[in-house]
Amino acid sequence: MDYSKFFSADVPSFLRSPVREIFRKVDLSAICSFAGGYPAAVTFPTDQIPSLTAKVLEKYGTKPLQYGATQGVPELREVIARRYGVPVSQVQITTSSQQGIDVCSRVFLDPGDAVLADNPVYLGALQSFKAYRAEVLPIRHSETGSPAKFIYVIPDFNNPSGKTMTLKEREEVVRIARELDILIVEDSPYRELRYSGEPVKTIRELAPERTLQLGSFSKIFAPGFRLGWIIGPEELLEQIYVCKQCLDLCPPVLDQYMAAEFMGSGALDANLEKTIAEYRRRRDLMVSLLEKYMPAGVSWTYPEGGLFLWLTLPEGVDTVAMYDEALSCGVAYVAGSFFYTDGSHRNTMRLNFSFVDEAKMEPGIQLLSSVIRKSLEIR
Ligand SMILES: Cc1ncc(COP(=O)(O)O)c(C=O)c1O
Repeated sequence: MDYSKFFSADVPSFLRSPVREIFRKVDLSAICSFAGGYPAAVTFPTDQIPSLTAKVLEKYGTKPLQYGATQGVPELREVIARRYGVPVSQVQITTSSQQGIDVCSRVFLDPGDAVLADNPVYLGALQSFKAYRAEVLPIRHSETGSPAKFIYVIPDFNNPSGKTMTLKEREEVVRIARELDILIVEDSPYRELRYSGEPVKTIRELAPERTLQLGSFSKIFAPGFRLGWIIGPEELLEQIYVCKQCLDLCPPVLDQYMAAEFMGSGALDANLEKTIAEYRRRRDLMVSLLEKYMPAGVSWTYPEGGLFLWLTLPEGVDTVAMYDEALSCGVAYVAGSFFYTDGSHRNTMRLNFSFVDEAKMEPGIQLLSSVIRKSLEIR
């Protein structure tokens, strides 16, 4: 049967994530994976989950098992509002920040519109923008030809590049948005994972009138909860709220009460402190191993936080072509070109340093280095 006639006109624009495809094919526990953006399982507060569950059921009765408000339960919105110094009315809970990106795309984009974004760009965002048939253009693209609706940026510890925008760069984003009179979507899932350097003002703080700031519990609590939030102007959140009604009625309610309790009691900050120390060690270990094993001509970013660093190999090395060889040797990465809308920069790759155990990191980097050396020889 020919099923293709049943699909909507949007379907041909859906992109498959190469990262998710890797996970479909490979048993992550059997190899050394620097590919995904998974947090380290040791950072999950596993031992606290049973008492946290019992506590919210005791405190709120059957409420955590019932449907909840589309905006999110008031207890969680209040805790988030307090933490970030905004009114509760400016907080919408989302079923993860990926949904935050998607709901913004759904509310603001028409086919043919443009989103101005970092290049390289987070794959999940690219998938969402493309699914609504929007064009993705570099931020400094002056004549877009198509109306730009918003700027999408990850100012802190970018996925995939690991870079952090300076205050000047953030002010420039705000200047462009004001000049074009468009919105800014500030995707901020890593901001609280800082290992060195000083925090820079958020874009929301610089331009609260036109910024939707996306937050997430995935990297500061556990991604299995699928919880995030949007902070933004009430008029914009009102439309997002209506849109979210048809997506999932409400975010997961038990999860929200648990997150509210975890964040509100101070347990999240205590756990975050341990997480930061763990990731700082892993980042420093990866950087020292790259220094030790990588051949001359390979360079990398030094991220002040987040989960990724970005490798640039000598011109002519093709990380897409090299990938099967790496996998057969037992090491995985994500080719950098997947994060470019035009598939360029085939001599780059993204490495994650949060997921792999410290003990596995040295053999993993050694393997990667030997695969790179081999492809330098046959170049
Ligand atoms: C920049 C960025 N935004 C959003 C997400 C989605 O996170 P989640 O949906 O788990 O909150 C990720 C996940 O890795 C990410 O890197």
